[in-house]
Amino acid sequence: MFVIRGGQPLAGTVSVSGAKNSALPIMAASLLAEGPTTLKGVPDLVDVDTLGHLLRALGSRVERLPSGDLTFEVQNTRANLADYELVRRMRASVCVLGPLLARRGAACVSLPGGCNIGDRPIDLHLKGLTALGATIRVERGYVIAEAKRLKGANIYLGGPFGSTVTGTANVMAAATLAEGRSTIEAAACEPEVVDLGNYLNAMGARITGLGTPFIQIEGVERLTGVTHTIIPDRIEAATLMIAAGISQGDIRIENVRLDHMTAVVEKLREIGLTIEPSGNCVRVRANSQLKSVDCTALPYPGIPTDVQAQMMALLTVVSGISIVTDKVFPDRFMHLPELVRLGASIRREGNCAIVNGRHHLSGACVMASDLRASAALVLAGLAAEGESVIRRIYHLDRGYDQLELKLNRLGADIRRESDEPKNMPASLILNVSDHAEDLSDPTHELRGPTWLKRLGINQRQD
Ligand code: UD1
Repeated sequence: MFVIRGGQPLAGTVSVSGAKNSALPIMAASLLAEGPTTLKGVPDLVDVDTLGHLLRALGSRVERLPSGDLTFEVQNTRANLADYELVRRMRASVCVLGPLLARRGAACVSLPGGCNIGDRPIDLHLKGLTALGATIRVERGYVIAEAKRLKGANIYLGGPFGSTVTGTANVMAAATLAEGRSTIEAAACEPEVVDLGNYLNAMGARITGLGTPFIQIEGVERLTGVTHTIIPDRIEAATLMIAAGISQGDIRIENVRLDHMTAVVEKLREIGLTIEPSGNCVRVRANSQLKSVDCTALPYPGIPTDVQAQMMALLTVVSGISIVTDKVFPDRFMHLPELVRLGASIRREGNCAIVNGRHHLSGACVMASDLRASAALVLAGLAAEGESVIRRIYHLDRGYDQLELKLNRLGADIRRESDEPKNMPASLILNVSDHAEDLSDPTHELRGPTWLKRLGINQRQD
């Protein structure tokens, strides 16, 4: 868990790591390559380790070099099973489906199962691969896909919430080795899909239309391993910008692609942050008077759903009413009740959250439910008065490369501690009369007598 003492305005310089959502599909696509692949700028994340395990199980040699680069080389092509134990830990494991099918003619990949941010079907992935000629059946929780050689096809990947990012990655990667020409309509335009496409083209693929909803792929016979640098993580960059805003700070962020973040930058400027680009760096300052805004998460080039929770955290401390809508994952609001525990005033209406911004949050114990929700709670903790405890921070480690170290270097006060309850004598009995609601939350067990005294709760020992 994190223990955060809020109230310090952030200052100094910080650098953004490589994009998780680029690195994972690109690592999976290394299964297509003959010869070694080297990836530069791969972030040091639990998700990257998890996919590394899966690639090893699928016959690749995977190594992190002293330089930090990751190298991959397929050594045997007999295995084609992506086991439930790995896939349930990380949904992006499903990105091995297209590459396995294209290169090995068969894949057996676990269905990922439930997810805290809402429904996450993979029907569009399967539709695209079926159009390429694969026979696909779902049995005992696994997708079993087979094809002698895939055949080029026209594929439409639009769904009820827009396109699909990893679905486009899967189908595009598979089509590179298909016989003939494929087109993907309603393809995802996210910079991470473009990064994957550039990597595949460097390996010898023939893909055009990247970054548009119409991608064309001319199938080739083989792809060869190359060296590729992962783009900077636009979600981490946005999180750091919001950290500057919520802490009333002034920071310089290095290794940023602002051209991947236009909607976020415009929105933060509308809120009142000063954002000054210079090369691949940006200075972000908070003006004392921030303004409430409406903010809608949309597929790229809109505001990413992966920044929705962090935006909401910022808007909780900006006076006035803000409406935050998520049109990509309409149920992605698990952070809402936790922000309320920190003193925010937010009400949910369908896929919208109505934030009644206040200037004041106060430290509390909260629980992270998913990766971006954890980031939102850390941001809120930076702004909250006093101490906040954020549990289940392992979600954050899946997708942020050393976030607490980066924030601490900017002046934040974040301590990582074990999630084990401590400092609580077994015989402690609480006088709960005035605080029944607070104490119904088991997270209070984490805190010792000082915390309870601060809450005004009397305690006595038998
Ligand atoms: C990727 C990102 C994730 C981000 C999300 C949306 C990676 C590793 N993860 O996830 O961080 O939050 O994009 O930008 O890149 N859908 C269907 N059928 C499908 C697939 C998706 O209906 O077959 C729906 C989903 O339920 C969701 C929307 O389409 O409502 C977008 O999902 P998708 O783009 O597929 O998300 P991921 O690729 O899983």
